[in-house]
Amino acid sequence: MLKTFKSLLTNATVVGSLALVGCGAPMTATDAGTGAGCPAGCPAADAGCPAGCPATTMGDAQTPPMNTDPVISAWLAGGAYKAWKCEPAGHAPVGNSPHGRNRICNNTALSSTASGDYPVGAASVKELLVADGGTAIVGYAIGLKTVAGPSTGASWYWYLKGGDGMVKINGKGKAANDDGCSSCHKSAAPGRDFVFTQVP
Ligand code: HEC
Repeated sequence: MLKTFKSLLTNATVVGSLALVGCGAPMTATDAGTGAGCPAGCPAADAGCPAGCPATTMGDAQTPPMNTDPVISAWLAGGAYKAWKCEPAGHAPVGNSPHGRNRICNNTALSSTASGDYPVGAASVKELLVADGGTAIVGYAIGLKTVAGPSTGASWYWYLKGGDGMVKINGKGKAANDDGCSSCHKSAAPGRDFVFTQVP
């Protein structure tokens, strides 16, 4: 299913008024809501991703699973990331963030990297929160570094699930930084390697 990135974010009720200025090329939804979440180019199918598409990784207490949504959603619901370094409370979106009210958690590999490139395995989970100031979680975003060294979009695995329960983005970013996540995350402060918020 083809959608523009803006409509993806709107459907996810995480779009802010500043949302996509300069940052969003149209991109392909990777999952039409069937729950499988195969990456771009792979059809969404609850049976799993076909040959040639990335296999499910199961993750662990420090690492989100990748590529198959029922596995990812179950891991998020299990709350392992809540034991990471987490912002104490939700907050309004910062800067040009299109994510709406949110709360960010960093795993040890990310939170303990004082400077320079983040190591493989560095991850953030962002809880997307209701707009009314409450604590209810309406969606999730994940960023997980998968390739060592200075980043391009292809160094990061991205996942976004909106308030309608649909997975909007599920897969590796693009080396050209022209996917809907890397296009903006590439603008994180110099030396911050595609990460805007490091939770102390
Ligand atoms: C237009 C800019 C923009 C786009 C597009 C964008 N983000 Fe973000 N993102 C931000 C900003 C700014 C923050 C930190 C502040 C905040 O969210 O309030 C952030 C934070 C995050 C975080 C927490 C780690 C960090 O870098 O601070 C994750 C995870 C994340 N975004 C995932 C995604 C995913 C997945 C996508 C694509 C579906 C995406 N983002 C698209 C701007 C963007």
